[in-house]
Amino acid sequence: MKKLVALVLALALVLGAMSLAFADEAKKKVGIAMPTKSLERWNSDGEYLVQQFEAAGYEAIPVYSDNDANRQVNDIQNLLAEGVDLLIITAVDGQALDTVMNEAAEKGVIVVAYDRLIMNDAVTYYVSYDNYTVGKLQGQFIEEKLGLKDAGDKTFNMEFTAGDPGDNNAPFFFNGAYDVLAPYIESGTVKVLSGQTQFEQVGTALWNTDTALDRASTILGSFYGNGEVLDAWLCSNDSTAMGVAQAIAADYAGDNEVYVTGQDADNANLINIYEGKQSMSVYKNLANEVAVTLAVAKAALEGEIDGQALADSFDIDVAFDTESYETTPGNKCPSFLLVPYSITKDNMQLLADTGLYEWNADKTYVQKVQ
Ligand code: BGC
Repeated sequence: MKKLVALVLALALVLGAMSLAFADEAKKKVGIAMPTKSLERWNSDGEYLVQQFEAAGYEAIPVYSDNDANRQVNDIQNLLAEGVDLLIITAVDGQALDTVMNEAAEKGVIVVAYDRLIMNDAVTYYVSYDNYTVGKLQGQFIEEKLGLKDAGDKTFNMEFTAGDPGDNNAPFFFNGAYDVLAPYIESGTVKVLSGQTQFEQVGTALWNTDTALDRASTILGSFYGNGEVLDAWLCSNDSTAMGVAQAIAADYAGDNEVYVTGQDADNANLINIYEGKQSMSVYKNLANEVAVTLAVAKAALEGEIDGQALADSFDIDVAFDTESYETTPGNKCPSFLLVPYSITKDNMQLLADTGLYEWNADKTYVQKVQ
């Protein structure tokens, strides 16, 4: 009898171990390739993606590539070698992933371009915010703050700082903003004293704060050193706005408020907004971007996606767009685009309402929940 009990117990143990092994084997693997840990945004997104995919029963494998495009190729190759079923990639340089994207396609791995598009047809889906609208919100903010619509004979001076030329989003942000402001520049209401109004002239390699700072200092020294008034500085995101705000604090002699735009609602920038060193940031709720990415990934792993039906099924505002983005000329990429909004000193409560931010002890500004 004892022997029988022992046998049954042993059998149960073996079966238990086997089913655990099978459960583990059945877990699909998702590789998550983020650009860098050095920009606040990708730390938060990376952590949140891992957390949400794990919670949904996937094995999530994150890699961060130190903003180095070659290293990202290697990191993604390693993910492919680990046998991932799906890749979520935010490219350091959307033009530099051809080889590894072709390898992913050969292996039949689904690729979701997260936030930044990759210029290769192996991309299965693109999940992002409406990047053109991000820029438009920044341009409209300056238009409104300077009262450009009713400027009459008044003139204003402003400058532009855009993002990384290797990031496919950067020209979308810039064009969105520039299209709002161009009529005023053409009519002479707005002057850009540096004369730098082309994306190629105002871009910031790797969105680097110090690079933005150095260029802004040079411009301030060269064009605003003799009492010229600077009214606004269009910055495409918070890391560049941080550099420009530092340059203005150090090198601009005027005492007027300079309207500086940004994007991401990063902690340090929210403090700057409270202190009046930056005027606004465009917010893109990462929890929503991740939720859409997870749903797209899940559906894609299960088979064909009806993009429109999927977009309609969210309670998040998201458009299914098959027109705006191309991975190569003529090859449209099915995209899920979320809706951004502006944050200023006066509406930070909106960030607290997301549950991802909380007020500081003095109730003067919000910060990301740790
Ligand atoms: C993202 C922005 C971010 C920038 C720099 C862009 O691709 O859309 O949110 O500020 O990269 O990391």
